[in-house]
Amino acid sequence: VEAHFGPRPLAGKRVLLTSGPTHEPIDPVRYIANRSSGAQGSALGRALADLGAEVVFVTGPADVAPPGGVEVIAVETAQEMKDAVEAALPVDAAVFAAAVADWRVASASGRKLKKVAGKMPILEFAENPDILAHVAQMEAGRPGLVVGFAAETDDVIENATAKRERKGCDWIVANDVSPETGIMGGSENAVVLISDAGTETWARMSKDDVAAQLAQRIADALA
Ligand code: CTP
Ligand code: CA
Repeated sequence: VEAHFGPRPLAGKRVLLTSGPTHEPIDPVRYIANRSSGAQGSALGRALADLGAEVVFVTGPADVAPPGGVEVIAVETAQEMKDAVEAALPVDAAVFAAAVADWRVASASGRKLKKVAGKMPILEFAENPDILAHVAQMEAGRPGLVVGFAAETDDVIENATAKRERKGCDWIVANDVSPETGIMGGSENAVVLISDAGTETWARMSKDDVAAQLAQRIADALA
């Protein structure tokens, strides 16, 4: 248990936060994943809880531990994440920091695929539901603030701005995850916050500091 002595502007607010990668099974022993560590999501969960929020933290199989002081709901696949998100509603704000797999294996095998010399499996994919877009476009019970993330390697602001419009979320937190930035799997982040008000480029800082600033902005928006 940690003690917090600062102001608690998110007291009484319920915030949903997705984090980490998802794993999409190929068979009982193999899966498709991505390089999300869950570090930014965990830092944000901690920062939101520090400001007094009731945080529902829906996480895929992340490298980093979930924050303390939040309700942790562990999932594996995108479809499980969507179910957990729907079960957590209604909330005052929903923040989607998870790196959700865009595709799942269309018919994952219930039995281990056996190696046969010279015969490679061909995987067919199906599209996963877009959880952020689904929540952002809810007709009834939409959270008052819906925040997405956009990890890009090219044309960061252009892609993220289009993503915000396409999905219908209020804010997009965009970042450049090109390998040379060291952001994916690292302890720092350099983000651009895109909202109705325009585009704000934040200095490169620790993921903890990005989390603290973002949590404060969320508190300001819900006040
Ligand atoms: N997201 C989601 N469900 C998905 C895919 C993405 O909730 N099935 C959310 C992510 O958590 C993130 C935002 O949507 O907040 C943007 O994810 P991203 O992968 O950058 O966007 P895509 O629309 O999948 O575009 P692409 O991967 O082609 O860049
Ligand atoms: Ca994607």
